[in-house]
Order: sequence, then C-alpha cells, then structure tokens
Amino acid sequence: MPWFEKPLIAVLRREYAAAMRFPDGVVRSLPEPPPNPCQLYVHVPFCEVLCPFCTFHRVRFCPTRAPRVFQAIRNEIRLYHAAGFRFADVYVGGGTPTVDMTELRAILELVRGLSPVRTISVETNPDHLDPGRLTVLRDCGVNRLSVGVQSFDDGLLRRMERYEKYGSGAAIREHLALAQGRIATLNVDMIFNLPGQTLAMLDRDLDELLELGVDQVSFYPLMIAPTARRKVERTMGAQDTADRHRFYERIVERLQSRYQPASAWCFSRGDGMIDEYIIDQEDYVGVGSGAFSFVGGAMYATSFSLNHYCRLVENGHTGISERRALGLRERMRYDFLVRLFGGELSRENIEQRYGRSFWLYMAPELAAMRLIGATRHDRDAIRLTRRGMYCWTLMMSEFFNAVNAFREQMRGNIRIELESWNTPATPPPGTGETDSNRVTK
Ligand SMILES: C[S@@+](CC[C@H](N)C(=O)[O-])C[C@H]1O[C@@H](n2cnc3c(N)ncnc32)[C@H](O)[C@@H]1O
Ligand code: SF4
Repeated sequence: MPWFEKPLIAVLRREYAAAMRFPDGVVRSLPEPPPNPCQLYVHVPFCEVLCPFCTFHRVRFCPTRAPRVFQAIRNEIRLYHAAGFRFADVYVGGGTPTVDMTELRAILELVRGLSPVRTISVETNPDHLDPGRLTVLRDCGVNRLSVGVQSFDDGLLRRMERYEKYGSGAAIREHLALAQGRIATLNVDMIFNLPGQTLAMLDRDLDELLELGVDQVSFYPLMIAPTARRKVERTMGAQDTADRHRFYERIVERLQSRYQPASAWCFSRGDGMIDEYIIDQEDYVGVGSGAFSFVGGAMYATSFSLNHYCRLVENGHTGISERRALGLRERMRYDFLVRLFGGELSRENIEQRYGRSFWLYMAPELAAMRLIGATRHDRDAIRLTRRGMYCWTLMMSEFFNAVNAFREQMRGNIRIELESWNTPATPPPGTGETDSNRVTK
C-alpha cells in the first residue's frame, strides 16, 4: 500500500460523510433549468436477481407493479421538459434498464421526441445481449451500451451470485462477441480487489478483455459502504485492501498499449467513444426513485420509496425529496474531484467559473495533491499524473462509499416496502408500504 493511501482515505471519509447530508428538509420545488441542454440520468430500479455486493437502489422486478413506476418516470421527464429543461445526453442506468424492453423503448422514444439528443447510454447485463434486444437498442438510438461483467472467473462469479443468472465466464465472452460492433461504444464493467481475487485471476480477466478488444473497459475497485460490509463479507468473504494498488497498477499497465484513460477507471480504445456520464457536463437531472441531480449548484435526491415516488409524480411533482445547496468552496471541491477524475481541469474553465478565488480557496487541496505527486500544474491545465490516477480512483470510490451510505440510510427507512418488492411470493401482512423516506427521521 503506498504511503499516502491511509491518510488520504481518512481525510476523504470525514469530508465526504459531511458532504452527503441533506439538511434542507423536504423539498417540492423544481430547480431552475440551466441555460444550456444538460444531462438526463434515468434510474430504472429493477433487477431480476439482486447481487449481494451492489449498493445501488434496486428491487426485484415485478411485472405487475413495475408499470406504475415506469409511467411515473416518463411523467417526471415530461414535467422537467415542461419546466424548460432540455437534454443533450441521456444515461439510463439501474438496476437493469433492459429488464423490460417495451418500457425502455417508451422512455427513449419519449426523450428523443422532446428535444434533440446527442448520446444515449444504457446499462445492461450479459444475458440480455440477445439479437432482439440489441436491435431494439440500436433502433432507439442507443450509442453506448454498458455491460456488467465484473470478472470472467467462474469462482468469483459464483461468490458474487452472478454465475447462475448471468452465465459462466465463457458464456459471457460469447455474449460480448455477439454484441461487439452492433452498438457504437460497447463498454464492459469490471470490478477489481474482490474477496478471493488474486493477481493471476486479474491477469486472466485482462487477457480476456484484450483478446475480445471491446471498445471500452471500466474497472471499479470493489466499493463497500461501511453499513453494507457485513452483508458482503457473509456472502463473498472479507475484503483486503493491501493489494488494491498493485491490482490497479496491473490494470493500467496491461491496458495502456491499446486503451486511453477516459477517466481514472475508464479506458477507451479510441477517440470518439462515449464516456461515463458523470464527467461530461456540470448540470444533470436524475429521474426515477433513488436518483440524484446536480442543478444550479445544488444536489437533489429523489424519494427512495417507490410508492412515495409514484404518488409525488402522480400529484404533479418531481420525485425530489431531499436537497442540499452547495457553498462556493463545496462546489469548487466537487469540480476538483469530478473534472480531474476525467484527467484534467483547464485553467480557462476555472477562471471562467470562479476567477482567482479558486486558487485561494482550494490552496490546501491543491498543495496536498501536488505534494503527494498526484497532480502536475501546466500552463493551461492541472493534470493527473500516473500516481494521481490511483489517488483519484480512491477519491471517487470514497465519494461513492458516502453516496452508498446515504442510499443505505434511505433504504433503511423503507425496509417493509423493500421486503414487499423483494419477497413477492410471501408479502408481509398488510404489505405496509411506507409513504416517505422520512418516516423514521
Ligand atoms: C449498478 S450496475 C447496473 C448495471 C447492471 N445491472 C450490472 O450489473 O452491470 C453497474 C455496475 O456497477 C458496478 N458496481 C455495482 N456495485 C459495485 C460495488 N459495490 N463496487 C464496485 N462496483 C460496483 C458493477 O461493475 C456493475 O456492473
Ligand atoms: S450489480 Fe447490476 S444486476 Fe446486480 S443488483 Fe446491482 S444493478 Fe442489479
């Protein structure tokens, strides 16, 4: 483990835990639309099976109850559009958006009918890479498809409880080969530093990826929110972070001959590939239960209760239930995190947005990251060094850990409702769906 890892993580944990509090209370008002088209994130909170390591907001797909949620998602998009929001880039994530192709098609047709869209990115799983779904996705204008693979190692897939549902490493490879070339950018999501994973296993994963030559690879470190650690350890085993840096260095070393870093953990085969949505634009709107938005310097969260979310939208509101206005320094730090995660922060961009105050307010962070050797200050931009790529991987994963802790807290408030989705064969007496995320606050 490099010398800076422990102190850096200690500082990040404290800072990000504070950043993920939403003190502004229940919010109903719509944010003001930004002057330019922004990004739209659509959260589809359904999966056929639930992976134990996943801390995203998702429930088991139920074909009889899901249509109400999909209807609410489309109405929420209409509401933002009517309020003046325009969307240039669309990212449909989850969950598993391809779980119901009729509903996904309806969402994409709606968005494309409302305003011109440049890029559409959709997340999926390997067993959904069939000719029928791929044709629908292409017809709907999807130009980036992101497939969750995690690993090609059958033992690790079993530990992750993905082998039965999504297939063996060999089956996944076949599905990917079928999909390649049918969508402009095919991205593969992988996870490293999994419990039980060795460097030799990682090497075999890298061999597979290089042989397949997929357009883009996103390699996430396993991120476990402190609240989810016990559940993950029970199903997958204890996580050891001692080798995380070695794993990361091996990934960069092996991919660099054929791939360019598009972010600290996303590697693309050429220019013109569509990258992860987080780094592209300043403002983004998230629709769907459990989505986040960042508009006009404030962060918003939509209700995690699917029932409450539907009721809000049915009553003419957005699904927003929480808001946090960011102060100037918080916005600068968010920019510093997100822009440098993409590799560089241009001086022109900084001066335009903040003037000289950026250098003053951000002096401690700028000095600390330079001292670590994570950044290089050029005439036109601040850039990440190779060491910086690992630092930013740590920073982003700590940021997501804080987001995941917030998700766990919100989901903790609606346990009965989640049970009613996740064990449909034996619903608890009275179903007992809660009406809000704030019931136990
Ligand atoms: C939330 S899933 C949605 C798409 C699809 N359902 C899937 O499984 O890929 C997107 C990706 O997030 C990543 N992911 C989920 N939980 C993670 C965790 N705890 N740590 C690191 N990456 C994670 C996985 O690589 C996964 O493929
Ligand atoms: S990793 Fe993907 S398939 Fe598994 S629970 Fe999370 S969203 Fe669903």
